[in-house]
Amino acid sequence: MTTNDHYDRILSLRALRSYRDDPLPDALIERLLETARWTGSSKNLQNWSFIVVDGDQKERLATCGDFTIPLSAAPVAFALVEESAGYEFDTGRVAQNVMLAADALGLASCPITLHREADARAILGLPEGARCRYAVALGYPADDAAPRNFGGRKPMGDVAYRNRHGESW
Ligand SMILES: Cc1cc2nc3c(=O)[nH]c(=O)nc-3n(C[C@H](O)[C@H](O)[C@H](O)COP(=O)(O)O)c2cc1C
Repeated sequence: MTTNDHYDRILSLRALRSYRDDPLPDALIERLLETARWTGSSKNLQNWSFIVVDGDQKERLATCGDFTIPLSAAPVAFALVEESAGYEFDTGRVAQNVMLAADALGLASCPITLHREADARAILGLPEGARCRYAVALGYPADDAAPRNFGGRKPMGDVAYRNRHGESW
């Protein structure tokens, strides 16, 4: 892939919510885990862990959020755990790395919010101080997989400024 191809993949990455039933081979899951593990974190603390969930456990996890249909639909998901003293920003970086890697490997993915953290903690058996607010659903894209149209993006002028908030870029 050329530099421009990489750029285009980043720009075109979308959440995809329908998947084939086929399970992901462990070797492929491990490649995705590797991209999570190698994500940069604040002070390189790596205060995180990644729980691969499938089957009934994935269904249990799906009860913890309000928009978890993709989690039920996907063959597998990574529950992204902020260990004690972890940062949500770092977790976000992991999610994006995993999604970009999934895309590079021909997979579809969707971030999932687990609104009921206490439930997620119990289901995942998290230790004291750890939390899991997000998961990433993963699978081979269904033939009809298409991004949901939430209306594109805000215009550049509404989000990018020069030097001070509100000053035109
Ligand atoms: C922090 C975060 C949480 C999200 N949670 C959910 C979710 O619970 N369920 C879902 O279907 N999509 C979820 N999404 C996906 C967003 O709805 C999606 O990324 C957004 O609408 C933009 O669409 P696109 O990714 O296809 O461009 C989440 C995305 C982010 C960044």
